[in-house]
Amino acid sequence: MADVSKDAVINALRKVDDPDLKRDLVSLNMIKDVVIEKNNVSVTVELTTPACPLKNKIEQDCINAVKSEVKGVENVKINMTAKVTSHNDSKKNSILPGVKNTIAVASGKGGVGKSTVAVNLAVALAKDGAKVGLIDADIYGPSIPLMMGLTEKPKIYQDQETQKMLPLENYGIKLMSIGFLIDDNQAVIWRGPMASGAVKQFMSDVNWGELDYLIFDLPPGTGDIQLTLVQTIPLTGAVIVTTPQEVSLIDAKKGLKMFERVNVPVFGIIENMSYFIAPDTGKRYEIFGNGGGAKLAESLGTNFLGGIPIDPRIREGGDKGVPMVYDLPDTKESELIMEISRKLAAQVSINNLNTASPKVEILLGDEN
Ligand SMILES: Nc1ncnc2c1ncn2[C@@H]1O[C@H](COP(=O)(O)OP(=O)(O)O)[C@@H](O)[C@H]1O
Ligand SMILES: [Mg+2]
Repeated sequence: MADVSKDAVINALRKVDDPDLKRDLVSLNMIKDVVIEKNNVSVTVELTTPACPLKNKIEQDCINAVKSEVKGVENVKINMTAKVTSHNDSKKNSILPGVKNTIAVASGKGGVGKSTVAVNLAVALAKDGAKVGLIDADIYGPSIPLMMGLTEKPKIYQDQETQKMLPLENYGIKLMSIGFLIDDNQAVIWRGPMASGAVKQFMSDVNWGELDYLIFDLPPGTGDIQLTLVQTIPLTGAVIVTTPQEVSLIDAKKGLKMFERVNVPVFGIIENMSYFIAPDTGKRYEIFGNGGGAKLAESLGTNFLGGIPIDPRIREGGDKGVPMVYDLPDTKESELIMEISRKLAAQVSINNLNTASPKVEILLGDEN
């Protein structure tokens, strides 16, 4: 029997699409290695994020394609790896050279669970293997240090002529908070330039190292301060957190319009406090109404990334500084948050592919 050829395997893989990126794995340059030993084929696939929602489907599709298209193949082994794609923006590259993507978590109004969502998304992405940082830029209520179980101040060190800060770290997340810059008892009246100055300092004077995703918890609302911030931070995109009731949805829409105005893509809407499942009866209560977030996303032409129920354990996780997805990973609620984080990561990858300069297909070298 003729040997299995590498070309035949690659041609088979041309028929496998990345369902999010809507192109085949070969032209996306995601096939990194093909090794053939007799009738056994081993393929290395490099995804655009370790938080890929369709990892298992892609793996199975590759196995099926090679087995059905290439004669003589007995076993197919797929090694799934990932390298997060970078938002290519000159401002971001100069201010945050080691950071591939920046994501704002925003809301039209306070108290909708924006910080809770930001923290859990960050931890979810890190659990999938991404390098994640978090900047608490909410001047009205910097609550992320507590939610992340961090109370100390960041360390300052001398880097040649300038002073630099090291971010704090917990659950695999690097963190800076605007709360570190102010005394607990000191009342601060923030203005736009002050807030943007502080956030600029977090971007340029903090040693972030290499990060796949740097998440910003923005102050709620759509006023001058928020507008200044979204113009200061070189954003890959934003997500908007809302609760299902009308008053919150109206403000979420304003949030989306603000990002549109400054040409920052909105990756989608997350509906928090979507419903409540009574632990004793399992009955679902739609306390703030039903489906508002999804309807809003549809009417605004953006994605609905998912809903998170009201769950006392989510609140407790925030209060005790151990995010739900870290503390109780095997719950339905944590699974929902993981799914949302993967949909978000997929949107970042789609954005980076669509905004990349056109690339010619790079063919596999002979050896890897
Ligand atoms: N899905 C949820 N289930 C239960 N409690 C929640 C949920 N989301 C947020 N909370 C709680 O609601 C309060 C407000 O959330 P927070 O994240 O601080 O809101 P924001 O940052 O939008 O002001 C916090 O006490 C938080 O623990
Ligand atoms: Mg908050």
